[in-house]
Amino acid sequence: MTIRVCLAGATGWAGSALARAIAQTDDLELVAGISRQGAGRRLGEVLGLPALDTPLYASAEEALAHACDVFVEYTKPEVAKANASAAIRRGAHVVIGTSGLSDEDLQELGELALAHHVGVLAVGNFSLACVVMQKCAELAARYLPQWELIDYASAGKADAPSGTTRELAYRLSQVGSPPLTVPLDQVQGPVETRGATLNGMQVHSIRLPGYVISIEALFGHLDQKVSIRYDAGSSPDDYVQGALLAIRRVHSISGLERGLDSVMEF
Ligand SMILES: NC(=O)c1ccc[n+]([C@@H]2O[C@H](COP(=O)([O-])OP(=O)(O)OC[C@H]3O[C@@H](n4cnc5c(N)ncnc54)[C@H](OP(=O)(O)O)[C@@H]3O)[C@@H](O)[C@H]2O)c1
Repeated sequence: MTIRVCLAGATGWAGSALARAIAQTDDLELVAGISRQGAGRRLGEVLGLPALDTPLYASAEEALAHACDVFVEYTKPEVAKANASAAIRRGAHVVIGTSGLSDEDLQELGELALAHHVGVLAVGNFSLACVVMQKCAELAARYLPQWELIDYASAGKADAPSGTTRELAYRLSQVGSPPLTVPLDQVQGPVETRGATLNGMQVHSIRLPGYVISIEALFGHLDQKVSIRYDAGSSPDDYVQGALLAIRRVHSISGLERGLDSVMEF
């Protein structure tokens, strides 16, 4: 059976790599794409793939006039929630790759999805290497109770922390809540230097030229340290395999699930 896909952000860095990959599959069909600059054109024209005649629209409302089974959100946080809501209301399952949505945004989308009997799979990072890192950090958090996260990204990345880090913070909060030896209100000096508290843990975001996306979970225990780190490469292809998996499996969930591992076997 063919899965009909609507891809928001089809001309972007991540979305165009995914579109190219979808075009090469036998079981997925790209029925519509979203890009304001590409609106009115065919995706194949924009990507240099003449055989790909997927129409592009400026908004989700217009693109969703084409019936789809799965809506992939790969644009910007400002429009991601509205796009995903529109898709859910149309009865489509949703895969969210866009970063910057809060826990509350995702929770609301999950409730809407439950009401419409569809699934929302929010994946902060589709890379399989990142999934492995997340699982290792979850394991470490079960035995090493104190940790902090460092989130690295390029100088121009506006949202902080990254979707990858938000997702890890959420996941680790389901394992435990790391105590601070010196509470924040007893810090001597600018308290901001201790980072932001997200999901009950300290998160430090670095934004510098030369970085892509990296995340480090640092665990300290007695006189020992464990650091678990993921470094993204510079190619959008790193995210394609996981995104295809999410598209193929999102129909199996109902309401919200976070993380690619929720549709993988471990
Ligand atoms: N989960 C993951 O594994 C993963 C991996 C990579 C990236 N990401 C995230 O995915 C998102 C996209 O990243 P990217 O690097 O591909 O960005 P990008 O290169 O800037 O592409 C954004 C895409 O969205 C479209 N877009 C932006 N604003 C829009 C709007 N208001 N209405 C309609 N379309 C809009 C753009 O087309 P127009 O400008 O023509 O509208 C373009 O097609 C980011 O949040 C990024 O952090 C996640």
